[in-house]
Amino acid sequence: MTARPADFDTRYFRSALGRFPTGVTVVTTDGGSHGPVGLTISSFNSVSLDPPLVLWTLTRKASSLSYFQRAERYVIHVLSAGQLHLARQFAQGSQASRFAGVDMTRSPHGAPMLADPHCAAWFECHNHSQVEAGDHLIFIGQVERCHRGAGLPLVYHAGDFDLTPSREPLPEP
Ligand SMILES: Cc1cc2nc3c(=O)[nH]c(=O)nc-3n(C[C@H](O)[C@H](O)[C@H](O)COP(=O)(O)O)c2cc1C
Repeated sequence: MTARPADFDTRYFRSALGRFPTGVTVVTTDGGSHGPVGLTISSFNSVSLDPPLVLWTLTRKASSLSYFQRAERYVIHVLSAGQLHLARQFAQGSQASRFAGVDMTRSPHGAPMLADPHCAAWFECHNHSQVEAGDHLIFIGQVERCHRGAGLPLVYHAGDFDLTPSREPLPEP
């Protein structure tokens, strides 16, 4: 059976999708001679516990698309409420300007990652597979290493950042 045509426009669809609050991540990978490549992504989600799989989606229009298609691995950083500046910085400008003033390090298997210890969590992923889906590509990552921080996560809702109300940080697991 084929799908019926949509009875809404893209603007309305986006605004309905915006009612689903998400976290905010910065995804980084190695751009080879180009240096590190990264961008802000809110389409991150969990897929499978065993094997450990996660997903995120990237618009086909992204200038970083080819780097992520070719990447062996990438790191997904879940931003904390105190990292709003990183969410903004990695959603605009040139790749060089996104990394300006940002301390970088390497993940356990060698991908460039943020050195900021305040991330709510990070996931080092092998680039497991990619699925074409409309105007986006779904990236499925197999998690090789992860870290859970104690900071409260940054939240995105209705097209804007929403600082989680202050609460005690989570206890160590
Ligand atoms: C909060 C937030 C969430 C975003 N989530 C996504 C996303 O899930 N997928 C995507 O393709 N772009 C997303 N973007 C947009 C990209 O960060 C932005 O278009 C970026 O400039 C693309 O970089 P590039 O063209 O250099 O690859 C998001 C932007 C913001 C501010």
